[in-house]
Amino acid sequence: MASYPGQESRLPSQIVDPKVKVPNASQVNGRELDWWQWMRYGPFLAQMVIVRRCNLSCGYCSEFDKTSDPIPFETLIGQLRKLRELRTWAVCLTGGEPTLHPRLADMVGEMRTLGFRRRQMITNGYKLTEDLIKSLNDSGLTDMQISVDGVLPNEMTVKTLQPLRKKLALLAEHARFKVVMSGVIGSAPPEEAIEVIDFARENGFIPRILLIHDENGQLKLSTEELAAYREAKRKIGSRFEDADGYREKLIKDGTAPFKCRAGSRYLYVDEFGQVHWCSQTRGVFTKNLLEYSLEDLKDQFHTPKKCDATCTVGCVRTASIYDQWRGQGQG
Ligand SMILES: C[S@@+](CC[C@H](N)C(=O)[O-])C[C@H]1O[C@@H](n2cnc3c(N)ncnc32)[C@H](O)[C@@H]1O
Ligand code: SF4
Ligand code: SF4
Repeated sequence: MASYPGQESRLPSQIVDPKVKVPNASQVNGRELDWWQWMRYGPFLAQMVIVRRCNLSCGYCSEFDKTSDPIPFETLIGQLRKLRELRTWAVCLTGGEPTLHPRLADMVGEMRTLGFRRRQMITNGYKLTEDLIKSLNDSGLTDMQISVDGVLPNEMTVKTLQPLRKKLALLAEHARFKVVMSGVIGSAPPEEAIEVIDFARENGFIPRILLIHDENGQLKLSTEELAAYREAKRKIGSRFEDADGYREKLIKDGTAPFKCRAGSRYLYVDEFGQVHWCSQTRGVFTKNLLEYSLEDLKDQFHTPKKCDATCTVGCVRTASIYDQWRGQGQG
């Protein structure tokens, strides 16, 4: 895999190589889905890991390493072209930590050129600079999710307001894209989550709440954390996003079954270009993205997922909600 010496001190816009060769559509061997096929089975959202490495080590996270190189730009462009063939509506760049990729802004620019309607990324914010924010503006980023778990750093997380204040001020001043500030309840003293929501509001960001899950995606919250979650929900009000009230059901009954359409409406593409259902079920289902076809989308649309009843993966629940009336399984 390619390595990028000195990558962390260089800006994506400074290292654009116009001579770089990327595969064209015929090299990724596909035929674009037509509109009707997409309506029935096509992806609404794909999350793509562009670098598995992370500059932090959050105590609750099992989605990073400390050694891997960024995925080569050409490889990622091939994957984006394939996602366009599948008519994917939105792509979200993730990791690890995507700002460790030296060509992050170039990737977003390619996403715009290829015609993705939403061009998104998730970040811990530590590597944001004014120049990087401006190059993300220029390349057409539409949404950034920045993770802010609490106010003060603790043993579990340093993604907190205190060390991130300057970065958040830069975003408030320069970002022309939508900024969602999301915190994980269960990773910092519960009352801090409420302070984060107030901060987000005051600075023009959209607050969002995630609930901490264990390595199997299971919910684990104390009574105080539950109370904080309810207060956070009340504060966020009508913008609170929760597919079918699944979190209240999980808290109350320990179960909230749904027809999970991962592998169809939602794709998780790992650092090896393999599609999985989601980050929590890596390896349960695996297929190379470049070989993905309409048949795969159909198969996975109809495959029941045994983990659905206790699932906490909000973005997949949201991507699955439009098709809850449709059958799944052999029927
Ligand atoms: C894996 S991170 C990758 C992007 C970036 N490094 C970040 O932290 O925002 C994506 C999101 O997953 C969340 N996450 C990771 N592990 C989690 C867990 N055990 N429970 C809940 N959310 C988790 C993070 O807080 C973050 O919002
Ligand atoms: S910053 Fe993101 S990827 Fe890195 S350890 Fe924390 S949650 Fe995981
Ligand atoms: S039900 Fe949840 S955990 Fe299971 S595959 Fe779907 S999104 Fe992943």
